[in-house]
Amino acid sequence: MSSEQSALAQISPVQQAVVDSVGPHMRHNPYDAYEVLRAAGPFVPGPHDMRLVTRYAEARAIMQDPRWSHAEEPQLLHGSSDIELPGSFLWMEPPEHTRLRGLVGRAFTARSVGAMRERAEELVAGMLDDILARREVELLDALAYPLPLSMICEMLGVPPEAHEQVRHMSHAIARGLDPDMLLAPEELAARTAAVREFEEFFGELARRRRAEPRDDLITALVQAEEQGVALTPTELIGTLLILVVAGHETTVNLIANGVLALIRNPWEFRRLRSNPQLAVPAVDEVLRYDAPVHLTTRAAHDRITVGEHTFEPGDAVVVLFASANRDPLAFPDPDRFDIARYAAGNRTDRHLSFGLGLHYCLGAFLARVEMQTVLTAIAERVKDLELLAEPAYRPNVVVRGVSRLDVRVVAR
Ligand code: HEM
Repeated sequence: MSSEQSALAQISPVQQAVVDSVGPHMRHNPYDAYEVLRAAGPFVPGPHDMRLVTRYAEARAIMQDPRWSHAEEPQLLHGSSDIELPGSFLWMEPPEHTRLRGLVGRAFTARSVGAMRERAEELVAGMLDDILARREVELLDALAYPLPLSMICEMLGVPPEAHEQVRHMSHAIARGLDPDMLLAPEELAARTAAVREFEEFFGELARRRRAEPRDDLITALVQAEEQGVALTPTELIGTLLILVVAGHETTVNLIANGVLALIRNPWEFRRLRSNPQLAVPAVDEVLRYDAPVHLTTRAAHDRITVGEHTFEPGDAVVVLFASANRDPLAFPDPDRFDIARYAAGNRTDRHLSFGLGLHYCLGAFLARVEMQTVLTAIAERVKDLELLAEPAYRPNVVVRGVSRLDVRVVAR
């Protein structure tokens, strides 16, 4: 046996599961690895002295407790980068987090949900017309990307001819949200280039809106900056970056994961077709069953006991949302995709896919509107959904999802 082989032979099943849970070879199914990790305990030793939080109760307790901070994530995951990702309130704690989230939240939620729903319905109807006419499509290009991309770009006020450029930039940045130790040098370089391009592009757009205000979110953010509750230029770019990247890369995965789950569970697809109102709870089941964001980090700002473990100040954890969502201690039959699990009257624990606590996803309502629209339209207009090839996965660990989804879609 070579020394390499004997080193491999010595790796324990739990260590192997840690490797598999992030390995590019297992992106199509990290769930078996999560099962091994959950069985090993709620806190499994991970890289760099971080504990992996594998189970629901402990993950929920940590997410809800403000003594756990998210401000350390750039150092924990991106310490080696030669350019800092512009910070947003996602990586801040009170009081900065409170001020910025309040400012952005007001500008964001002032926009009418009814108008968003109407626009989502219009976009989905057009895309589905095209898909049903073509029958065989690559679903990311035909629906999963253009819907959330158009929605967030239109809300912000990005001109249509620049949507593709925005997609390209955020793609590289989303990959760059993975721990630096998992990224190839060319991926780090692509992230750096994309961040620079983003700063230039959105810096220029903000200058234009300051000179000529319009009814869009960039104008609202720029004006908020000028009404005494200032956003600094760096905060403005950081905020736009989180809105753009979190605003569509995640929802792309939600849509693709949902369609894939329906194809792989034909009984549930038939159930949705006969009961299109199940589209609403089905959104939460897709979020639980196949989370678009698999993990986050937290660092203890105090001596904190969770379950039977006491963490010291500075201790860091990786909270595995996607594993917690499949914890049999919280969800009966957790590996079953059941579109009525979250239907009214059923008592089910909430999933952690939008996070929890102070950093709970600000765009959850928008993602829900988009996905409900997609599932309703599929329920009403599609008779058959079929995979044309096994889906390929992106190497991404944090924002995990497919890179291609070739499907046949047959009209009712
Ligand atoms: C399926 C779609 C989405 C998923 C799964 C998702 C997931 C998440 C998660 C897990 C967090 C919390 C991270 C943490 O606590 O460490 C978060 C925060 C956030 N999300 Fe989303 N998100 C989605 C869509 C969106 C959309 C559409 C937007 C905006 C347009 C958005 C904007 C944000 C922002 C601004 C935060 C930071 C909140 C804060 O730190 O206070 N997200 N999201």
